[in-house]
Amino acid sequence: MKVLLLGSGGRECAIAWKLAQSAKCDKLYIAPGNAGTSAYGENVAIKVNEFDRIADFCAAQHIDMIVVGPEDPLVNGIVDFMANVPGAPKVIGPTKAAAQLEGSKDFAKGFMSRHGIPTARYRSFTANEYDEACQFLATLQAPYVLKADGLAAGKGVLILPTLDEAKQELKEMLNGMFGAASATVVIEEFMSGIECSVFVLTDGEGHYKILPVAKDYKRIGEGDTGLNTGGMGNCSPVPFADAEFMQKVEERIVKPTIEGLKADGLKYKGFIFLGLIRMDRDIQCYHAGDPMVIEYNVRMGDPETEVVMPRIKSDLLDLLEGVADGTLDTKELVEDPRTAVTVVLVSGGYPGSYEKGKVMTGLDNELFTQAPVAPADNARKSILFHAGTALNAEGQTVTAGGRVICVTSYGNDRNEALAQSMRGAEIIKFDGKYYRRDIGQDLNRF
Ligand code: AMP
Ligand code: GLY
Repeated sequence: MKVLLLGSGGRECAIAWKLAQSAKCDKLYIAPGNAGTSAYGENVAIKVNEFDRIADFCAAQHIDMIVVGPEDPLVNGIVDFMANVPGAPKVIGPTKAAAQLEGSKDFAKGFMSRHGIPTARYRSFTANEYDEACQFLATLQAPYVLKADGLAAGKGVLILPTLDEAKQELKEMLNGMFGAASATVVIEEFMSGIECSVFVLTDGEGHYKILPVAKDYKRIGEGDTGLNTGGMGNCSPVPFADAEFMQKVEERIVKPTIEGLKADGLKYKGFIFLGLIRMDRDIQCYHAGDPMVIEYNVRMGDPETEVVMPRIKSDLLDLLEGVADGTLDTKELVEDPRTAVTVVLVSGGYPGSYEKGKVMTGLDNELFTQAPVAPADNARKSILFHAGTALNAEGQTVTAGGRVICVTSYGNDRNEALAQSMRGAEIIKFDGKYYRRDIGQDLNRF
């Protein structure tokens, strides 16, 4: 098969690494890709929202399948667009209507309440309902959770400690703090517990596979302190996501989600990202230890993918073929039993402003591999997944984003995998480099 992968981050680098391993993959293109994806396929200078150009490229190169990395083209309707192009390839991803699960928090909350999926109690408000919104806030307990309805580049959620601050921020959100994205604001009750990311692959015919579970580290500082980022590291598996927890996730969340999509006529062939919380106290009719949904995303997570792909042993393209054809039930998903940890090296200043164009060294160290194959147990190699990198005019690899590069390692346990990634993180050098040294360490209490 000839495959076109859309996107340019660490997530796409990890998906490209995995697709390149497939015996079914004859040719892989990545649009636009980054300095790392070119190790696995051919980068193409087309942006993810240039649907016409993507369609033309697919026709010219006889592409069989498009795999969509980021949410943007999905929310913008790339699946529906290609469905109207004669001879267009299969697209892995939800339709525009189904992508609203990520594109609109109000839509996602409505979906969950319709289908009895455990989530925080909520109401949605627009600018002319400010007084009502304040009344609803007063019925909740601190802290207060405010969410911009639309896509806000991961910044649209505010958690406020006092009612006064919540009312103040609510006013600003409704007055356009996040532009059109916060014209509607979802107010919901606070859920207390520990989070994990569960990924489900579904074929739109009621079949699904639950992929390895990951835990994201979103804050910039060690010990989960400081500002939120896109994700500073990840590990998989997650010890508290044990068989009992996952049984509840499957029965209470995954199955009702798959059935709900069908009942609502939402066509969805692709990855569903469940942002879950394992409650540490009773809430509504649920108990401490139970899973509840924080949010849906309609794509893989980043940097979750940088540990999830290495933990899938099966051929990803074979699974995706099952997704496209509605035959996912005939495919097998085999997990790698090892632990994977990824550590993200970021530019100094991130998630605030930062400089780009810093020359990177150490990438060719023997500790690293970019071969499209999972390193063996005793290889003591780390995989480099490029996120924000580019080649400069002299052919040097330079930083080109906030999150620059991910160092993924396997181990028999989290400590072993983290120690290996720490060695890698030290070897790579660029001006202003920063990374967290504590990825996965909070899980040692489980
Ligand atoms: P989201 O953009 O929906 O992923 O929200 C960002 C982060 O805010 C989540 O990862 C949680 O840490 C936190 N969060 C969102 N909603 C809630 C909630 N109802 N209760 C507690 N934390 C929340
Ligand atoms: N790492 C969280 C996300 O991809 O949304």
